[in-house]
Amino acid sequence: MVRELLLHPQFAQTDEVLAACIILSTYEMIDVAGENLGSHLRGVASLLQSRQVQGDMRGIRGAAYWTWYRHEIWAALQTGRRISLNESYWEPQPVGPLGHLEIEDVANRVLFIMGQCIDFSNGHGVGEEDLGPNELLRSRHTRAVQLELALEEWYSSRPPSMACFRTEQTKLDQPRDETAGGFPTIWFVFPQSAIAHQVYHASKIILALYQPGILHTPQGLAKCASLSVA
Ligand SMILES: *[C@@H]1O[C@H](CO)[C@@H](O)[C@H](O)[C@H]1NC(C)=O
Repeated sequence: MVRELLLHPQFAQTDEVLAACIILSTYEMIDVAGENLGSHLRGVASLLQSRQVQGDMRGIRGAAYWTWYRHEIWAALQTGRRISLNESYWEPQPVGPLGHLEIEDVANRVLFIMGQCIDFSNGHGVGEEDLGPNELLRSRHTRAVQLELALEEWYSSRPPSMACFRTEQTKLDQPRDETAGGFPTIWFVFPQSAIAHQVYHASKIILALYQPGILHTPQGLAKCASLSVA
């Protein structure tokens, strides 16, 4: 039915059709596994592209962009595919401290960097096909440093309201809480902050795992171990 609607000039450009496509894509994320996961994402991407839908739009369009981006990240993690609309299409503009943004927008910014880290871990880089082994190593190293800096910049520009406000240490003389796995409980005001911090740490682990050469050194292994604990 959506395919038919897309052929109608009168309906094809409506927000309802965009919303319907995103909902269908969400079902695909839940239902499909394996190579075929995300087979419709390129179609959704071209729908977004033809309407110039970007992440800084409000309402249905902005929500469609960010829902689609989450689907892309999941599919890229599962299948190793390239994210179809990357920073050459749109990326969040640098704004300095993030205190004046909505909490969702602050969280979406680190999610965007996570997508870039996953593209990096899947071996997708700019013009890397023609590079010799040494140049490739240098190019991947440079990209890893850029992404690490982007993550740290996000971390240091977060508004104070987003930071954790309380940490409960597991007491050593008490039996360990099975659900918490013995890790301290960390409290945030907004659920988006908790997710964003997990996304930040997961991105750092991905970077550490795929940084050229790093796993072959004891320091590299120690770094991955300490990031996993964080
Ligand atoms: C972004 O995607 C385009 C098209 O697939 C690709 O040519 C470009 O190299 C990508 N950029 C990065 C930074 O991966």
